[in-house]
Amino acid sequence: MERNRWYKDKVFYQIWPRSFKDGNNDGMGDLYGVYEKLDYIKSLGCDGIWFSPLYPSPGVDCGYDISNYLDIAEVFGGMDAFKKVLDGAHQRGMKVIMDLVVNHTSTEHEWFKKSREKIEPYTDYYIWRPGKGKKLPNNWDSLFEGKAWKYDEVRKEYYMHLFALEQADLNMDNPLVREEVKKILKFWLDMGVDGFREDVITFISKKEGLPNDYIMPASKGFLYFNHGPHLHEYLEEFNKDVFSKYDCMTLAEAPMVTPKKALKYIKEDEHQVLDMMIQFKTQEADCLFTDFNHMPFSLRRLKKAYSSWQNKLEGKGWNMLYIENHDHPRMVSRYGSEQFRKESAKMLATSYLFLKGTPFIYQGQEIGMSNWYPSDPLMYEDVQTRWQYFNVATKKSPEKRLERLWHGSRDSSRTPVQWDDSENAGFSKQKPWFYVNENYKEVNVKQQESDSESVLNFYRKAIKLRKELSAVKYGNYKEYNKCSSKVYTYLREDDKQKILVVCSYYSKETSFNVPKDFDITSSKLVLTNYNNNSLVLKPYECRVYVLEK
Ligand code: GLC
Repeated sequence: MERNRWYKDKVFYQIWPRSFKDGNNDGMGDLYGVYEKLDYIKSLGCDGIWFSPLYPSPGVDCGYDISNYLDIAEVFGGMDAFKKVLDGAHQRGMKVIMDLVVNHTSTEHEWFKKSREKIEPYTDYYIWRPGKGKKLPNNWDSLFEGKAWKYDEVRKEYYMHLFALEQADLNMDNPLVREEVKKILKFWLDMGVDGFREDVITFISKKEGLPNDYIMPASKGFLYFNHGPHLHEYLEEFNKDVFSKYDCMTLAEAPMVTPKKALKYIKEDEHQVLDMMIQFKTQEADCLFTDFNHMPFSLRRLKKAYSSWQNKLEGKGWNMLYIENHDHPRMVSRYGSEQFRKESAKMLATSYLFLKGTPFIYQGQEIGMSNWYPSDPLMYEDVQTRWQYFNVATKKSPEKRLERLWHGSRDSSRTPVQWDDSENAGFSKQKPWFYVNENYKEVNVKQQESDSESVLNFYRKAIKLRKELSAVKYGNYKEYNKCSSKVYTYLREDDKQKILVVCSYYSKETSFNVPKDFDITSSKLVLTNYNNNSLVLKPYECRVYVLEK
């Protein structure tokens, strides 16, 4: 089938279902709540939705531990509620993509239960190994908790889990498992779903022989399971047998991917097997590899990451653009400033919404939600966060360890969306499943709807502009003042117009240099978060100028 690449015109909104909106007032976000808010999402200018997992799941990793791929969890409203949302989204011209989590399943999945009993054909659905004497099958680490192996008393062997203990890695080398994946893909595509965000898909092919890793000091095994030997081949198979038959899109989560590696999969030629990849580099401007290893924010690192992805994919592949998702703390609290919450939220939006690619907005980002600072580590729900507190950096004082979580925990972006200033932030009439950020009285959708200068209305304006300005979609990208550690300046240009984007990441006033080839006096200032015409930028000021040719 001819691929339309419709995703290039879209702006996506990511829903993390548990915390979006509770429609039946049981304390948990659900699809009834999503249905109520479809017009709201549309009003932002978004025309696509990515759902984090909605499938039945024991919830050890908030739905990323799936126990049935072909259903929708009752707690979210079940299949009827999903079909209603899917239709409602389509009627409004919005695409819907699902999360595909096939590196692992929950240990509650039927396949696993049968596999541990060696019931055919499930015996080799997972990665089972005997121990080596008293030792584990190899020295690989889990990315969430401890080592990557757990002994199973029923089967008397170890199974691999690169994430939580209850997330067993599938054996993708088994053709039967790949057939199951294709069945899942067809099931949802036939229902009308428009594509998939593929969870840690670059981990699905493990190096033959599962050798010990003597290279990596931590995250042992990473080099052997990320971009493994058969990854391209398996993706090609999914593409050939399924995706190529539908006008759909694929977005692959790809930890530590470089643009060069990404192009092996997303280059728009006959070998293309994915449409876009989720890179992590733009998340690493204030940390080393993971959010828990916090460092001072460096704008130069961030700019380098943005420019490298913009430049290296130019004319070859398509970028996915994002600043937040359910796996990282909130950006206002990281690269922006809580003191200048409103200004910095707008600036952060501007810095990425005018780049080339398909932008994604994570729920709550559009009102400038910020981090959550619990007083007790046990208030954290996330499996990875708890492990970090109780098992990593344990020599530090309890205060320092808690501070590590404030910087690093993804629970900061998982607090319920703040809809209004009523009890539970209007998320639910019942006590929510998770804590509401205390700032909901000041930061909420209702207040921002009625304020023309709000972050919410700024997002609407920026998205509208993005859709109107031809140079945003296909224009060239050029960065200026690369050495500045305070201001990010870039130009987008096509044959009709030039767009100059200026974003200050600095908490005081700072000057900026207009690029020599941009005639600012003949240009129009179309978007800004201050009313300031001087060449001195206010804290976190941003401006977008357009020069028609
Ligand atoms: C991905 C998801 C994350 C999940 C992990 C394991 O990184 O985005 O939320 O915990 O995979 O499935």
